[in-house]
Formats: sequence, structure tokens, C-alpha cells
Amino acid sequence: MGDRTAILDHGSWSIKAGHASSALSAEADLPPLVTPTTVRVYDVRTKLQFDQIMEDAETVRGGVSKSSGGAGDASLSGGDSVEASANGSYTELGPVQDGVICDWDAMEALWHYIFYEQLGWEKGEEEAVLIAERMLSSSKLQRELTTQIMFEKFNTKGVYMADQARLSLGSYGKVSGCVVDIGHGKIGVSCVADGQLHMPSGDSMPFGGEAFTHFLREAIQARNGREYSVKSAEDLKHECMEVCSSSKAYQSRTASCEEREHILPDGLTVKIGKEALQAGEVCFQPHLFGYKCMSLVDMVHTSISSVADQVMKRLLTESILVAGCGSATRGMEQRVLNELKLAFPPSYSPSILRRPEYMPQTCPMHSAWVGGFIEAKLAFAQNQHITKYDYDEYGPSVVHKKFLL
Ligand SMILES: Nc1ncnc2c1ncn2[C@@H]1O[C@H](COP(=O)(O)OP(=O)(O)OP(=O)(O)O)[C@@H](O)[C@H]1O
Ligand SMILES: [Mg+2]
Repeated sequence: MGDRTAILDHGSWSIKAGHASSALSAEADLPPLVTPTTVRVYDVRTKLQFDQIMEDAETVRGGVSKSSGGAGDASLSGGDSVEASANGSYTELGPVQDGVICDWDAMEALWHYIFYEQLGWEKGEEEAVLIAERMLSSSKLQRELTTQIMFEKFNTKGVYMADQARLSLGSYGKVSGCVVDIGHGKIGVSCVADGQLHMPSGDSMPFGGEAFTHFLREAIQARNGREYSVKSAEDLKHECMEVCSSSKAYQSRTASCEEREHILPDGLTVKIGKEALQAGEVCFQPHLFGYKCMSLVDMVHTSISSVADQVMKRLLTESILVAGCGSATRGMEQRVLNELKLAFPPSYSPSILRRPEYMPQTCPMHSAWVGGFIEAKLAFAQNQHITKYDYDEYGPSVVHKKFLL
């Protein structure tokens, strides 16, 4: 495995990336790169209309360019949108939706940016790549396409693919557990038993951090009587959103919640009240917000209950990992734990996995990447990856032979 082997975790909000050679410690800022999963496609027609339209009848479409900011940039909007800038209008594409790649051209542009501009790959000297995927959502065809693009467009030396939930547990030194991934497009629940993803138990809620942002934005616009950008609502969410310790606490706190003023990073002032508590409550009482799905804790309970082996069921209950960037929401872990204690019989002892002290502070938020970083060391050394030879011999479908996800 080369020093520049790339580890990638694809999310609909951000792509986490870095080299397998990065140093791992409690102080390490890992992953080294967290970049918005957004690509801007500039349309230069507006400019041409000014300068050349009389001479040049043909419209020219600009190339795909990377989005410029890091995570937290205004471009973290999810979905596609059309905006205007001094360089002409552009379309923002979100190539990953709900954890699944849905725009391959845009994704390729993003990979290009990550490999060559951020991770320092040189043309003709590409390395291997480990990709963390949500296997419960992605299809076989998608895995094949990813493999094909990696070998044919990026000339990678090898490809290794693994499930995000399994990798997340690996970062905590576990091979069995139930992962609650609070992402942007969805909240996924996956059980992993003895290092194997338990497919039948996987489920997901039809919303995630993006819906919380949307809810907060609408609520503060109504309260303040003015427009706020998605970025402002997102900043507000990161700082103010909180989950109450129980539904009873939610009831009493929202009843007596007073309006307060908050200053956003860009200097804007915003008044906020009970909506800071409401946004996250949707996970625990979705019916209050018009959703007909199970609550998060019922989903975890149902997933674990679908595992037949009694010993494993107990082990899973005692190894719940709350992962994804949404896990950073104040009170989230505690509420999950409180409700799980009520959902399971007293003979069970639900518990939330704690970050090992030697792991980076950001481990819960980026556990799939950290798990990939750890697994890469063994996987490539033991030739568990797809080599160029394998790919040439069997084609893209070799991905299913190699990885029993
Ligand atoms: N400090 C924070 N507090 C609360 N939410 C946060 C915080 N930081 C990031 N988030 C939210 O977490 C979500 C992104 O989480 P994550 O990076 O795990 O998703 P993703 O992997 O890109 O998406 P997905 O897994 O759904 O495809 C965003 O909605 C973001 O606003
Ligand atoms: Mg994710």
C-alpha cells in the first residue's frame, strides 16, 4: 500500500477524505479533508451574450468546476439549484443523495478534485483507494460503476469497498453493534454481527440533517419576518439545536421556552425559541411533525429484534453507536439511550459506545472514515482489494466476488 492510498467516505453533505498514511491519535484532526458534496457547473452563456453573441451563435457550456469552500460552505445545500454569480449563472449539483451517487459526471469531477488537487495524486502515478459506502442503499450496479470509474478514469492501483456501518464500528474496535448514522439525507440504522452487515435489520428514517435545517429555516423566517439563507439556518442548527432528554421534558421545556437572540457567524442576529428543541424531536415523535414513520428508537428496537440469535441481540443492545455529524447535536446520544432503556425489557442493558481515548475527538462524527483508515492498513497488505489484474480479468462485477458486504 502506497503512502498516498486514498480513503473516501461519501456522504450527501460532505465527502471525508485523506491518505492512509495520516497519523492517528486523539489530537489528530481527521479526516484531513471534509469537502462539500457539491459541484458547480458554470454556464458562460450570460457572459457571451454580452461580448460575443452577435458573432458567435453557438452557446458554450463551461466545464465542471469544483466547489470552493470546505465543509460548512454555503454550497452545502443538497440537491441541485441554479444561482448567479459575477462569472455568469451556475448550477449546483449534489451528486450524492441520501448516501447514493446519483450524478456520475459530477461525482467524477469531485473525485478528480479530491485525488489530484487535494490528495496530491500525480497523473500516471495514481494509488489505490478505499471507499466507504452505505451498502444498504447503494445498488450492485452502482458499486460496479464506481469500480469501473476508479480503474478506467483514475487508473487506480486497487479498489477496496466496505460498508460505512461496519467501518464505523471498527473505529471503536468493535465487530458487532448497532449503528445509528445521523447523516444529512437520512438517519440509517444498521446492525453488524461478527463483522458482517445484517442486511434484513437495516432501515432508515426518511429525513436527516437536511430536514432539520429546512425546519429551522422556515421557523426562524416566520418568527423573524425575514429571509435567512440555508447556510445561516445550518449555522444556527449547529450551535442551537438541542434534543430534550425525554418526551415529557420536551413538553415542559417547549411550553416554557423563551425567545432569545443569537448572533450568527456572519454577524446577523436571529431570534429563536422552541424551534431549537423541535427540530430534533422529529426523530423521536415523528407523528407530531406529520411523518408516518417509526420513531428512531422504535426503529433501533425493531432492527435489533430482527436478529434471531439471543446472545447477539443482547450484544447489539449493549453496543449502540450514534454516528454521523448529526450525532454532535446536544442531547442526542442521551435521548437515544433514555428511550432505549424504556423500549427494551429490564433484563437488557442498552448502552452507547464511548469513543476510545486514543481516537480523534471527531471520531463519532467521522467514524466510517476512521474505520476505513484502520481497515485499509490490513486490507491492502493482505491483498483483499481488487487489483488491476482482477479488474482486467473479470470486469466491474468482480466487486461482488471480492466484497461480501
Ligand atoms: N455540530 C453539529 N451539530 C449538529 N448537526 C451537525 C453538526 N455538524 C454537522 N451537522 C449536520 O450533520 C449533517 C451531515 O452529517 P454527515 O456528514 O454524517 O452526513 P453525510 O455523510 O454527508 O450524509 P449521508 O450519510 O446522509 O449521505 C448535516 O446536516 C450537518 O448540518
Ligand atoms: Mg454519511
